[in-house]
Amino acid sequence: MKITIIGTGYVGLVTGACLAELGNDVFCLDVDQRKIDILNSGGIPIHEPGLEEVVRRNSAAGRLKFSTDIEASVAHGDIQFIAVGTPPDEDGSADLQYVLAAARNIGKYMTGFKVVVDKSTVPVGTADKVRAVIAQELSSRKDGLPFSVVSNPEFLKEGAAVEDFMRPDRIVIGCDNTTDGERARDLMKKLYAPFNRNHERTYWMDVRSAEFTKYAANAMLATRISFMNELANLADHVGADIDAVRHGIGSDPRIGHSFLYAGCGYGGSCFPKDVQALERTAQEYSLNLQILQAVEAVNNQQKQVLGNKIIHRFGKNLTGRHFAVWGLAFKPNTDDMRAAPSRVLLGELLRAGASVAVYDPVAIEEAKRVLELDFYDAPELLASIRYAENPMDALSGADALAIVTEWKAFRSPDFDKVKSSLKQPVIFDGRNLYDPSVMREIGVEYYGIGRSVLAKA
Ligand code: NAI
Repeated sequence: MKITIIGTGYVGLVTGACLAELGNDVFCLDVDQRKIDILNSGGIPIHEPGLEEVVRRNSAAGRLKFSTDIEASVAHGDIQFIAVGTPPDEDGSADLQYVLAAARNIGKYMTGFKVVVDKSTVPVGTADKVRAVIAQELSSRKDGLPFSVVSNPEFLKEGAAVEDFMRPDRIVIGCDNTTDGERARDLMKKLYAPFNRNHERTYWMDVRSAEFTKYAANAMLATRISFMNELANLADHVGADIDAVRHGIGSDPRIGHSFLYAGCGYGGSCFPKDVQALERTAQEYSLNLQILQAVEAVNNQQKQVLGNKIIHRFGKNLTGRHFAVWGLAFKPNTDDMRAAPSRVLLGELLRAGASVAVYDPVAIEEAKRVLELDFYDAPELLASIRYAENPMDALSGADALAIVTEWKAFRSPDFDKVKSSLKQPVIFDGRNLYDPSVMREIGVEYYGIGRSVLAKA
């Protein structure tokens, strides 16, 4: 099938490459010339395990093309996926300018029936806006071409995106009950048929429910994390181990083990903005989503938990102190720094007068870019950041180590080396990677999240 992907970012590139892998003829459009140039010269602009190989294989086979040519992209696909960003507006609602710009281009250049698929995460009712923009473009051309707008939200996880796309637990598709909607449904059915071969994974629904499903999923996941973080903070006070509690509650099938890990807060391009956007949608209807407001507030606080523990241990004025930070990306296996908790920690440490040496396996370049923006008002603080070559290099002469991202490479370090590199053996573990009783045995002063009972015992 002929597919166009508008927006070749984390979601668009994975979607395009994976659909090409299944034999489709895919045209990926982006307005960012730099990204398209990287892709056309055989590289990929993001870090995503396994993606480069799929991109290379399908580009070589001629099934996957990259371009900034809008007219050609609209001409190519019978199905046009919109996978552009929907970042938070100033008030937290989803900024739809990129989605609507993509829709406008489709309306401007289409010459036959198109299925327009909203793959970006968009508020309920966005399909109506996309439909209106396309219809307006068509009417200004005095053209009555048929089209249908479908909602097909994406559930892939960065860091496992190719695997998630190729083996989805579910495919959610919302279509209209019109003749064009039926036509769109048939094409979507055909496109996703390879994923449904062994058992049906597609949930067909109306467009609004499909739009809502994506927000409901992310809001639920964010809620579990904030819930556990809130309990972890209490556990620190009452002398309980949140990890034991996690096992104890997760074994109940009604609760389950997933997404119960306490830590230094969730980040990334999705949970923070999607929770906020859902709250704003509710406010448009004069409703307050009180649980989600709390989820967001708890998370904003939790991003400060490592900084607070460090300040509690070393004092408010960190001038002359030096800290090692392991992990910058918002989670392992990605270079994505959007809303990463590391940015909050670095802000707290640097503004309190400390210097830092940071290490991340893949996010250093992206970190440099976003930290320049974070510290635009205090560029002199950037000079207090050293980018280390490897984890041990970051430790040298530091007063303590803070762990922000749970990269596998941090799970079993040589603790003798860690101890001898640090000025004093103090670890603030924002991801509960280590066993506090082992840390105690080997003489590390250890601060986890919600586990102080074991560190002190
Ligand atoms: P991204 O920022 O990585 O990629 C978006 C791309 O769209 C950029 O390369 C940008 O240059 C391009 N773009 C913007 N306007 C354009 C236009 N008019 N025409 C062509 N290209 C245009 O964003 P990402 O992370 O891929 O997210 C895209 C959407 O998918 C968002 O709504 C997000 O919430 C959603 N999503 C993201 C997931 C993730 O893990 N990143 C997972 C599931 C959904």
